[in-house]
Amino acid sequence: MNIGIIGAGAIGRFLMEKLNGERKCPSFTITAVFDNRTKSKERLQELAHQYGLTVYDDLNLFLQSDVDIVVECANVQVAKEYALQVVEKKDVLLISVGALVEQAFYEQLSLIAKSSGKKVYLPSGAIGGLDVIKSAKALGGLNAVTLVTRKPPASLSIELADEKTILFEGSAAEAIGKYPQNANVAITLSLAGIGVHDTKVKIIADPNVERNVHTIYAEGEFGTVEVTVENEPSPMNPKTSYLTALSILSSLKSIEQQVVIG
Ligand SMILES: NC(=O)c1ccc[n+]([C@@H]2O[C@H](COP(=O)([O-])OP(=O)(O)OC[C@H]3O[C@@H](n4cnc5c(N)ncnc54)[C@H](O)[C@@H]3O)[C@@H](O)[C@H]2O)c1
Repeated sequence: MNIGIIGAGAIGRFLMEKLNGERKCPSFTITAVFDNRTKSKERLQELAHQYGLTVYDDLNLFLQSDVDIVVECANVQVAKEYALQVVEKKDVLLISVGALVEQAFYEQLSLIAKSSGKKVYLPSGAIGGLDVIKSAKALGGLNAVTLVTRKPPASLSIELADEKTILFEGSAAEAIGKYPQNANVAITLSLAGIGVHDTKVKIIADPNVERNVHTIYAEGEFGTVEVTVENEPSPMNPKTSYLTALSILSSLKSIEQQVVIG
């Protein structure tokens, strides 16, 4: 499977290193990167040389290349800007899931994917338990979902003394507006469950934690669930959990599998 990347930061470079550098998953190769910003040219040429990829600054040429799937690992704005055009031609995996907070955009993306016969993949990212949430709502009996995110202050780009501070409490839709780099998981959880307006989110800056900790609480006809993931931060970007990049690899692998679990 040939992969095209948009976003060569912490996650994108991790994928380049594992897939092209170390050949950890031999059936996947990153063949192309898209970026039309002049400021990135030199850095991307270096990565292209190092990992044997082609850099495109023209989206149409990128989409005409031999990539089977485009992986977006840039940011919410980039995902919004390119997702619709990409899915007309290629399968797409979005990690900046916050781009789908608007119902109209989500529906437009689904509609284009349906008519082009392409798929949109949203990996579980830095959280666990989406399997339970999806099962619980299969017949509509999922009643309440809350996500509590606890991060070291540096991961939230703030400086704090010794105090634990609640930075945000509200809906998932409000959370992604205020914390576009930290609340993507809230939107993935909402789309799997009861939606962006009914899913509750609390974001806490906590100088006593070293990891990015996400806990999901949910209840419904199935019973209750509480899932906590204590994430190691990515070495290149403390806002991003290492598990996020692994979840992209897991989603890519599941596309190829005949037996699908969960
Ligand atoms: N769904 C989840 O669970 C989850 C978890 C963590 C991070 N994320 C999201 O994943 C995304 C990537 O995370 P990261 O840690 O790799 O971020 P990063 O900041 O390290 O890298 C982002 C890269 O995108 C590039 N970029 C920005 N604008 C671009 C454009 N117009 N065209 C092409 N490239 C562009 C930047 O130059 C940078 O290299 C972020 O949106 C982050 O919020 C999602």
